[in-house]
Amino acid sequence: MIVKIPATSANLGPGFDCLGLALQLYNFIKVETGRPFQISLTGTYCEGISIDESNLVWRTMCYLWSRINYPTPSVALTLENHIPPARGLGSSSAAIVGGLVAANALAGSPLSTLELLQLANTLEGHPDNVTPALYGGITLAVPSEEGILPRILGQAGDLKAVVLIPDLRLKTEKARGILPPQVSRQEAVFNISHAGLLIDAFIRGEYSLLKEGMRDLLHQNQRAVLIPGMLETLKAALDAGAYGAALSGSGPTLIALAPEAATKSIAGDMLNTMERHGTKVQTSVLDIDAGGAVCSISQ
Ligand code: HSE
Repeated sequence: MIVKIPATSANLGPGFDCLGLALQLYNFIKVETGRPFQISLTGTYCEGISIDESNLVWRTMCYLWSRINYPTPSVALTLENHIPPARGLGSSSAAIVGGLVAANALAGSPLSTLELLQLANTLEGHPDNVTPALYGGITLAVPSEEGILPRILGQAGDLKAVVLIPDLRLKTEKARGILPPQVSRQEAVFNISHAGLLIDAFIRGEYSLLKEGMRDLLHQNQRAVLIPGMLETLKAALDAGAYGAALSGSGPTLIALAPEAATKSIAGDMLNTMERHGTKVQTSVLDIDAGGAVCSISQ
């Protein structure tokens, strides 16, 4: 069995802890049943990932089985990682969502996608990455009395995402730790209205609204101190023709949403601007993933 899980970009500017989208950049979890327990790593990013029982994918699988009283089967896992860790592209969400989808499938799929989302949110702590990782597309995660209410806002097949990935790891806890515990009413109103505008823009496909819609007052300026050149690089993306640009999740990756024709100059201008501030970066142009985590049976 193979589970394919997309990278994700959370917040999208004003949608702190609630908006996100899935990207066509994937981690894969291969599960072989009836084998002694073993975890092997392959792909682009293996460093620092544990291969014993403390591995996040494995712990997540065991968590699901214990929740449904399913006896832990003996399996060998191969984790093929292409989502860079600690960069704001949802690598830990991919591990959690992938682990839940794999464990659920091995148990005969007793849990619905909505139930998996609630477990993923419990494990991850905020739902803005796990929701697009599970469902694909551009998503809104609403904390309701019954748990997270997921809304798919669209697939945006005509949008390209230029991602600029600094050679710099930034843990979400650190990037959250510098945020003030309280926000002013003016900042709250700014973000509520801009998140509303952004959702409207995605639903209507009116991408000219993204420039205004992706503005934020709750976290981006505050986090700029951790990412040299961040604000100038976001501006460079807009100047080069991006519809809108934001910090991806808690960073340090930046994401610009753009028409295909502008992606090359946006990527070049963003790279030059950030490297002038002394940080090495790599850029990728990605499509939006429409399917979310997918499980397939291999021979
Ligand atoms: N929304 C989170 C944050 C990151 O900005 O801290 C992704 O869950």
